[in-house]
Amino acid sequence: MNLLSAKNLSHSFDYDLFEGVCLSLDKKESIAIIGISGSGKSTLLHALSTLLKPNYGEIVLFGKEISKMKKKELALIKRNKLGMVFQSHYLFKGFSGYENLEVSEILSQEPIDEELLRRLDIEHCIGQKVTELSGGQQQRVSIARVLTKKPSIIFADEPTGNLDHETATQVMSLFFEYCETNDAGMILVTHDNDLAHMCKKVYKLEDKELKRIK
Ligand SMILES: Nc1ncnc2c1ncn2[C@@H]1O[C@H](COP(=O)(O)OP(=O)(O)O)[C@@H](O)[C@H]1O
Ligand SMILES: [Mg+2]
Repeated sequence: MNLLSAKNLSHSFDYDLFEGVCLSLDKKESIAIIGISGSGKSTLLHALSTLLKPNYGEIVLFGKEISKMKKKELALIKRNKLGMVFQSHYLFKGFSGYENLEVSEILSQEPIDEELLRRLDIEHCIGQKVTELSGGQQQRVSIARVLTKKPSIIFADEPTGNLDHETATQVMSLFFEYCETNDAGMILVTHDNDLAHMCKKVYKLEDKELKRIK
């Protein structure tokens, strides 16, 4: 079953970033996008995750073109079915890690998964204030927060950037397992070739084109 398909996406800011980008994500599938810094990976991910309207092209989410959706319909999909893990994690700073998860729990009506906290190795520190946590711990709390709402598509921009290689690999395994168990899919942006190749498909954004390399 198709979760997302992008047709002919183009976007430019001061100069053209990408043109004619086509991509399709199925259930239980993972896609990595690599490319040098400034090539437009984050912009493309923002477009795919509906945060940015591309200059040209169409995105179909769960079988429906987003340009044909009502504002409210798209807002509900964003809240319940799309999970965004960004480089800079937008946790609520005055709250504890656990309180951040509770916000997700309330919004999505999905219970906090204690096993998930163990798998991310944050169960011992989750009660601390966000500002007291290390960068790597904050990143894992933000991953827990996103997975708590049980999204159908995970969009991740350098999600393991603050983590050592071993922890990064564990987090990646968790994402794959999550997709498998929950019929979800993942689109991952990374500059790390090894992590990228853990995904089923790998694309490279280069010379304004998204080329499939695996
Ligand atoms: N909101 C924006 N307004 C203007 N230019 C932007 C904006 N976002 C990104 N850019 C520019 O687009 C280019 C690609 O950025 P980005 O998508 O972040 O690349 P990457 O993630 O591959 O490093 C950069 O030159 C950046 O300055
Ligand atoms: Mg980027």
